[in-house]
Amino acid sequence: MRGDNVVLVGFMGAGKTVCGRLLARRLGRCFVETDEMITAREGRSIPEIFEHLGETRFRGLEADMLELLRLKSGDVIATGGGLPCRDGRMVALKTLGTVVWLRGDLAALRERAGRSGDRPMLAGRTAEDVERLYRQREPYYAQADLTIDTTGLGVDQVVTRMVAALRNPHGS
Ligand code: S3P
Repeated sequence: MRGDNVVLVGFMGAGKTVCGRLLARRLGRCFVETDEMITAREGRSIPEIFEHLGETRFRGLEADMLELLRLKSGDVIATGGGLPCRDGRMVALKTLGTVVWLRGDLAALRERAGRSGDRPMLAGRTAEDVERLYRQREPYYAQADLTIDTTGLGVDQVVTRMVAALRNPHGS
């Protein structure tokens, strides 16, 4: 049976954390984030985990979090940008609840994600590299139940659209 969580997916800089937090508040639900679960468990930041343990180990930790998420119900869950992008992951996320893709203009996503300087997947990557990564990931995100195009929208507007889409998933 499908869970009743709301699961946010999307590329780095899509606003999964900030919009997820506000969505949870609006819906009166708890907010959880896979990156936060990982840093709490490891006692290190995401860049430190990449530096000391490597990307492969980080992806393994994401898989562990996916298992833990099976215990959640009624939550808003924000996932790291790479978590859904492995075979079988979108199917697993969909068992947790309604999966929402926060889609955006790639240049805007990259600009926003680059601002914080704490994204190891962007470090040393050219705009072309990032575009390639995005194109590889897009088919996974596209399997979401709902897609919200965030282009040109503020956080509040994105959340309003998510609430409307969750209430009326077929848009009629
Ligand atoms: C990653 C995205 C990050 C974080 C890690 C790897 C990725 O999360 O999980 O740096 O591979 O896209 P955000 O999507 O919240 O930036």
